Formats: sequence, C-alpha cells, structure tokens
Amino acid sequence: MESRKRERIGDMEKYIEVKTKDNTYTLKSLEYNECYHSSEGALKETYYKHVCIMKEMADDFGEEIRILDICFGLGYNTFVSILNRPKNKKLKIYSPELDVELIKSLKNFKYPKEFEKIKHIIEKISKDLYYEDDLIYVEVANQNAREYIKKLKNIDIVYQDAFSPKVNKELWTLEYFKDIKKILSRKGIITTYSVATPVRCALYKLGFNLYTHKSDLIRKGTIASLKEINYPKIDFEEKLKRIKCYCYYDKKG
Ligand SMILES: C[S@@+](CC[C@H](N)C(=O)[O-])C[C@H]1O[C@@H](n2cnc3c(N)ncnc32)[C@H](O)[C@@H]1O
Repeated sequence: MESRKRERIGDMEKYIEVKTKDNTYTLKSLEYNECYHSSEGALKETYYKHVCIMKEMADDFGEEIRILDICFGLGYNTFVSILNRPKNKKLKIYSPELDVELIKSLKNFKYPKEFEKIKHIIEKISKDLYYEDDLIYVEVANQNAREYIKKLKNIDIVYQDAFSPKVNKELWTLEYFKDIKKILSRKGIITTYSVATPVRCALYKLGFNLYTHKSDLIRKGTIASLKEINYPKIDFEEKLKRIKCYCYYDKKG
C-alpha cells in the first residue's frame, strides 16, 4: 500500500490518503490507526466482499432491496451498490456514521473514475447526508450505529464493515449481532471481511448459518444467513471440535 499526503480536517490531522493495490484510494484513520479498506484494493474489496453478494442474492429479496451499510466511512459500499443496482429493483440504503466531518469532505475525495457517473449523488450526500430519486434512497445518520439500528426493520443485507474488533469492538459483540438479527428480513444476510473466531462464534450462537465468499479474486470473509444459501458453507460445528468458541461482549461478565 502506498501512502500519500495527509488530510487535514479543521485543525486536526485525522487521515492519511492511501493508494491500494487496485489503484483506488482509501484513507488510514489516525484516530483508529486502521485503514478504511484492505490493501487488496478499496474498490475490489467493496465489490467482492459485499456488493456482488447483494447482486447475486437480489432475486431472493423483494422489489426493494433494503441495505444497512455499517458504517458509511468513505461511502464505497453505498456508491458501488448504486453503480451495481440490480435491474428493476429499488435500493434503500441506511448507514450510520459518527464522523460527519469526513462525509462533508467526500465531495473532494479521489474516488475511482467509475464513480464519475454518480458524482451528483456523492455531492448531494456529502452536503445533506441524504439522496433520493425514483430508484435510490440513501440516508446517512450522524448517530452511533448501536442506537441507529434499533429503529430499522426488514433489512435484506447488512454490509458489516466496521473497523476491526480491536479498535471498534462495540460493532462486533454478541449483543450487537443480536440487535442486527432482530432487524433482518426473512431472507436477510450479513456480509463481512471478518473471519475472526469471536465474530463467527457470535453469529453461530445466534443461529446463523456461516458461509464464505465464492470469488478467489479476494481474501475470503464471512457471510451469515438464517436460511440456507448457495455459498460455500463453513462446517462450524466441526471447527468447534478443534477451537474454543468465545465472543466479544458489551461488558465483561
Ligand atoms: C472501516 S470504516 C467504514 C468503511 C466504509 N464502509 C467505506 O466504504 O469507506 C468504519 C467507519 O465506522 C465509523 N464508526 C466507528 N464506530 C462507529 C459507531 N459506533 N457508530 C457509527 N459509526 C462508527 C468510523 O467513523 C468509520 O468511518
């Protein structure tokens, strides 16, 4: 990964601009000391870890696909979903984000050239945290995800894309995933880059079937679904004979 210039937001130096292996840009957060995307490629990761699953599963969802994007960050997951909207489907995207300064700065971010087509959407979201037309609805909430998700329902797909549990634990605990389960639609699924045992254990304990990604073009993550789906299944029961099942919790106890 190649690091470029430092971004200043107000008086604070908060991010470093980073070029990833697919030549698309991401940021490294100096607050969390982590990048917003993996070194494999910001665009590549977004597409293969999250958006292509939404596309492949689109027929299982209704005419309107309801997406929860955890969390908005640079908005890659939302913008790539819009660019890949399945035919005849409306997308409704809900996304919490604590860092409103970042969103306000996105109109100037060096996005991949493919995003040029939706420049008007990026500018509108960057300004108003909201966009709507006949086929797309995007709401970015400047709110803690833990509170925000409680008001949602019938979510078809959750893009679980927080920073790692080491620095962003509140978005990986058993209690958090319990709340996510409550707002999923009947065929709802969760996609994530994480393969961490405590994350998979939490999902497994909550009754999710665990799968992995099909594509060999990217490091595989985890897909969780309450229903059986057509993805490579992880035999977690078998794995548990060899590993200890433990989760992250909101509070130790
Ligand atoms: C890994 S980045 C998200 C990357 C994003 N999906 C993208 O495409 O750029 C994680 C984001 O979560 C936000 N965040 C962390 N904890 C949060 C919380 N509890 N509620 C809302 N946003 C949070 C951070 O500010 C950061 O922008």
